[in-house]
Amino acid sequence: MTSILLCGAFGRMGKNVADFASASNKAVVSAGVDVSAPTYDAAFPVFSSLDDVTEQFDVIVDFSHHTAVRQVTETAVAKGVPAVIAATGHDDAEKDLIRKASLSVPVFYSGNMSLGINLLIDLAKTAARTLGSDFDIEIVEEHHNRKADAPSGTALMIADAINSDERFRYVYDRHSSSSPRKKDEIGIHSVRGGNIVGEHEVIFAGESEVIRISHSAASRMVFAEGAVNAACWIVGKEPGLYGMSDMIRSRGI
Ligand SMILES: NC(=O)c1ccc[n+]([C@@H]2O[C@H](COP(=O)([O-])OP(=O)(O)OC[C@H]3O[C@@H](n4cnc5c(N)ncnc54)[C@H](O)[C@@H]3O)[C@@H](O)[C@H]2O)c1
Repeated sequence: MTSILLCGAFGRMGKNVADFASASNKAVVSAGVDVSAPTYDAAFPVFSSLDDVTEQFDVIVDFSHHTAVRQVTETAVAKGVPAVIAATGHDDAEKDLIRKASLSVPVFYSGNMSLGINLLIDLAKTAARTLGSDFDIEIVEEHHNRKADAPSGTALMIADAINSDERFRYVYDRHSSSSPRKKDEIGIHSVRGGNIVGEHEVIFAGESEVIRISHSAASRMVFAEGAVNAACWIVGKEPGLYGMSDMIRSRGI
């Protein structure tokens, strides 16, 4: 049984992780951390700071906020435990903290914990290779009206996967541009509203045909399941930076 320290325990994803873990027979949340007031009756103690946690844990799962990453990575390194960073929106300095921590402990970092999105990324890479420069690539993402960061971490993961050779530059929305689209662009667009869990579409638009690859998350539970699976998988690994593709490959999927 893998015991989890859950950062962001009272958030929407924190609640889903707590529910998924308690229904599973492979993980248990031993303690939580959150800076907000309780949103439900947690079956584990929740502290307002990582420094106050006295419970034992095998791994930290962070579904809080990108600004928490310093405390999360420092705690992981100090305790010698792995961390699953599932929060999104990290700036370059915060990403450096993640990379630095991964020199000492195993760190799993993914802007999207669903298997389906990671398949979409593989399909989008294949499509971009096959279709070549005759097709314009645009990414549209939709999320609920409480999401803090834009574009989504997933939209950027998709763009980065297509752009591994760095031949494209990213154009975010188009309100500030009054010139026609250029060939070396990937357009990235964000929609926010209601309770949309997460929609991502990659559009390859040619002169005579359009190919669309899309993914729709029906429930946040899919991300909770992915994060708990990642938490169980990363315990005992060598220090390093891991992602969904490492876990998928190692399981022979
Ligand atoms: N990787 C994925 O698959 C995936 C999926 C969904 C959401 N996310 C990301 O996970 C994060 C949380 O999403 P959510 O929808 O649950 O948000 P939320 O706002 O509902 O919950 C975040 C919780 O974290 C707490 N928090 C904020 N700063 C904190 C800190 N410094 N220390 C401890 N707790 C802190 C808040 O009080 C809140 O309860 C976001 O960054 C979101 O983009 C990632």
